[in-house]
Amino acid sequence: MTNALETTGYLGNVEEVLKAALADGTPAGQPEGDMMKQAARHLCVGGGAKRLRPLLVLYFARALGMPLDDERFVHAGVAAELIHSASLLHDDVVDAGMYRRGRPTVNALWGNVMAVMTGDMVLTLGLQRLLSMEPKVMHDALECVAEMTRGTIAELEARGDLDLPLERMRFIAEAKTGALFGFCGIAAARFAGNDEARPRFDEFGRRLGIAFQIADDVKDLLGGDEGKTPFADLASKTPSLPILVAAQKDPAVKKRIKDAWGFGAMTPERLRELGAAVRATGAIQESVRRIKAEVHAALEVFSPYAQRPGGVELVGYAHKLATAFDDVGGADEGNPVDAGRIAQPEQAL
Ligand code: IPE
Ligand code: IPE
Ligand code: MG
Ligand code: MG
Repeated sequence: MTNALETTGYLGNVEEVLKAALADGTPAGQPEGDMMKQAARHLCVGGGAKRLRPLLVLYFARALGMPLDDERFVHAGVAAELIHSASLLHDDVVDAGMYRRGRPTVNALWGNVMAVMTGDMVLTLGLQRLLSMEPKVMHDALECVAEMTRGTIAELEARGDLDLPLERMRFIAEAKTGALFGFCGIAAARFAGNDEARPRFDEFGRRLGIAFQIADDVKDLLGGDEGKTPFADLASKTPSLPILVAAQKDPAVKKRIKDAWGFGAMTPERLRELGAAVRATGAIQESVRRIKAEVHAALEVFSPYAQRPGGVELVGYAHKLATAFDDVGGADEGNPVDAGRIAQPEQAL
């Protein structure tokens, strides 16, 4: 296990570096962009973020026996968190998301243009953190950002398509979420100079990221949590995995979603009804089965590191993700779900 004090210390450093990167007048006293900094701080340092990606960097590094006072891990964690934050700023424009981390989104408060520009700035600040390090890590980060962008575009192209093959959905989840989880492992392995661990950590991260994205899709249909608006995927016509599974399982449900996406106004009441119809097909159970399969494969590739400090935490987190929905078996009968019953896998890290 990793010492809790070490983890708190690491997260404290991440927080400090994040705040400094987004402070007014940085870099070097330049006031330009302070409005964007304000918007960036609203999202990034306003609370409610799980800081999952920096934590992944930390535990991957520990699994390789690296000391946590090596500040490259703090900077890699901050870079990953900023890349993630930029993707959220852009994602909330794409999805017209109005609520995140328990407060209005940047696009809701400042408009789409500001949100896009702020996302670009945050992305640049994230990549800048890697400039002074191992050049290959910068290369990995650029590849990761390009893949995330491809995933977002693929998702946009798939919008409204209830016949999207499930494999294509998996590709999208891997690109938009798995690639960055993988990067956290790759960066740690690069700093540790461990070429054996690097591809394993990448695959573990990718599969964990896919499982995490499916879990996010499922939570959306169970009434949401984490300060986000529920049924956001139905509202934005995004064919998430459970929505696609429901459409495949039941032609009547497919038609209802299709009609809603084609014509009707998406009132909260209608979204709730559609959500219940999707759940009633057993799509949640099938999605959970896929989460478990991804986690199982992730654990297999990670097995040489499973017993190590850091590795233990990563394995524990993967298990929590796989079992997070075990208590909500009745969700398929269209029952209202108490979000408090859903285990919060992020608490494991
Ligand atoms: C949200 O990520 C976007 C997805 C990949 C589903 P997180 O659930 O990690 O969001 P924060 O950072 O804790 O807000
Ligand atoms: C994850 O997808 C977005 C990114 C990785 C950018 P979602 O669209 O499901 O994320 P949330 O649900 O809005 O957080
Ligand atoms: Mg979204
Ligand atoms: Mg989502």
